[in-house]
Amino acid sequence: MRSHLCGEVKGDCEGKEVEVYGWVHRRRDHGGVIFLDVRDHSGILQVVFDPDFKDSFEVADSVRNEYVLRATGRVRKRPAGSENPDMATGEVEVLGSDLEVLNEAKTPPFQLDEYSEAGEDIRLRYRYLDLRRPEMQARLRTRSLITSQIRNFLEANGYLDIETPTLSRSTPEGARDYLVPSRTQPGQFFALPQSPQIYKQLLMMSGMDRYYQIARCYRDEDLRADRQPEFTQVDIEASFVDQNEIMKLTEELFKSLWKNLLDIELEDFPVISWLDAMRNFGVDRPDLRNPLRLIDINDLMGSVDFQVFKEPANDPDSRVVALLAPGGGELSRKMIDEYTEYVGRYGAKGLAYIKVNDVESGIEGLQSPIIKFLPVEVVLKVIERVGAQDGDLIFFGAGKAKVVNDSIGALRNKLGADLDLVEAGFKCCWVIDWPMFQKGSDGRLSAEHHPFTSPTCSPEELLTAPEKAHAAAYDVVVNGYELGGGSIRIANKSMQAAVFEVLNMGSAAQEDFGFFLDALEYGAPPHGGIALGLDRIAMLLTGSTSIRDVIAFPKTQTASCLMMEAPSVVDASQIRDLHLRLRDRS
Ligand code: AMO
Ligand code: AMP
Repeated sequence: MRSHLCGEVKGDCEGKEVEVYGWVHRRRDHGGVIFLDVRDHSGILQVVFDPDFKDSFEVADSVRNEYVLRATGRVRKRPAGSENPDMATGEVEVLGSDLEVLNEAKTPPFQLDEYSEAGEDIRLRYRYLDLRRPEMQARLRTRSLITSQIRNFLEANGYLDIETPTLSRSTPEGARDYLVPSRTQPGQFFALPQSPQIYKQLLMMSGMDRYYQIARCYRDEDLRADRQPEFTQVDIEASFVDQNEIMKLTEELFKSLWKNLLDIELEDFPVISWLDAMRNFGVDRPDLRNPLRLIDINDLMGSVDFQVFKEPANDPDSRVVALLAPGGGELSRKMIDEYTEYVGRYGAKGLAYIKVNDVESGIEGLQSPIIKFLPVEVVLKVIERVGAQDGDLIFFGAGKAKVVNDSIGALRNKLGADLDLVEAGFKCCWVIDWPMFQKGSDGRLSAEHHPFTSPTCSPEELLTAPEKAHAAAYDVVVNGYELGGGSIRIANKSMQAAVFEVLNMGSAAQEDFGFFLDALEYGAPPHGGIALGLDRIAMLLTGSTSIRDVIAFPKTQTASCLMMEAPSVVDASQIRDLHLRLRDRS
């Protein structure tokens, strides 16, 4: 029977007989003595076999990496000079007296040490081996700790854990649905939930008062390092609350997580309006560790001759901004060309710049392909406004606000990283006061958050000028990642119907959400909530760069599982039972 975990065998066990179980992490043969590093989830322990114990020595000689073992022996201090300070158990070793191979193992397709450089594809294909790596073990343990701390926190605050269905109806969170065909209702489909949004609101209407769920959500959308097709939300909803209460609860939860897991005291989260976020950072999830800001210069460019700037400066849907790159005077022509190419990916038609060689010399001290098109006093005002110093460089973006925000917002992130300006640590903020709708390139409005978010105006005002409507919505952002989003909800039928009308949902509103509109007529309490991205929280708290590293069995960028080879072709009879026929894929 196991007497100790490998990682528990330390100095205080000296002289004890121990029995440990685990995998061969490494086997070394030091001329007549065999060293086995035996690994279990708790750590690695060195077990030494010498030829005096003939049987076990022979077994030790035969084992290979990843064999599963039972080893017994006596703990002793390692000889002076051979301690390993990098190992928790590095002061001691076990002199093995008995060794049993419980299972053999093929040679793993990649090294299982902490610094494995194996490509992600192979790691995902053999995920059960990848997860044996101490680094991955530590990440999943931290994730488990995070989940239990969140549960404890929410339950201490009176929140009730309630499960909601995953075979459901389409919920409009803005992505494509994963659909499940029904066998018993020919031609009909369940949708896997993009979030439990409607259920949690119905639970408030059911009088549950405070709900939470660690909820699996499914979204068929383009994937990135911080997006998976199935992911986990900490979903929260409460009745008779206002926006500040939900924000305060969330902020306290984050502070407690960071304190308990990293011993970091997060500062109070600054609150930024959506408009200010877009103005200053070009994005609605600003990374406040980066000191760079987009600086509006519309007012200076309205009557210059340079059309590239003049036109957007006079168009309310456009903007002209400057972005100061401190020390950017060092950037070579080639690097500036690369940045120009980079902003081009976001639709920018160019990237004007001014190099500031010597501020004191006025216009003479500047170098730029565009100053010849601009009046001297305008150029000098720009220099003053952005606070440029000798050796700096100023980039400019001009055009439709969306393109400028996307491109210069991205450039701000890139320059922050390239010029090493991003502070270490964590910077959190709230982004509030969102527009209710956004306009697509086809001119159609869609909900900026989701259609259940409460506008801050009346239904009449909403119907008259929907583009102007603001929403009682709030996002929590940490280091440039959107970690959560929520809102106060619509709690009456006329406002909900007005939002559906603005979204041009017509009869679909009644068909898809008739039950919900009905429910709003039976005394819905005022309510609101938030959903936090658990995978993203775990990613930041473990210092990982992708949420795939904190999910046991993640999908690839093309939404497939390399290990199980899912999705997969299914039996023709299954397709028939579901009343489906596949189109010819040729
Ligand atoms: P939202 O769509 O903002 O809001 O989602 C909430 C949070 O979930 C995380 N998230 C994701 N994480 C990983 N992969 C994804 N594909 C993914 N999509 C979202 C983000 C995000 O902030 N029902 C509303 C919440 C509410 O209003 O209460 C909702 O789902 O961290
Ligand atoms: P052009 O008149 O197109 O030759 O551009 C003159 C300068 O302005 C070049 O340095 C371009 O990179 C830059 N430029 C062109 N379009 C834009 C734009 N939309 N935003 C910022 N700079 C631009």
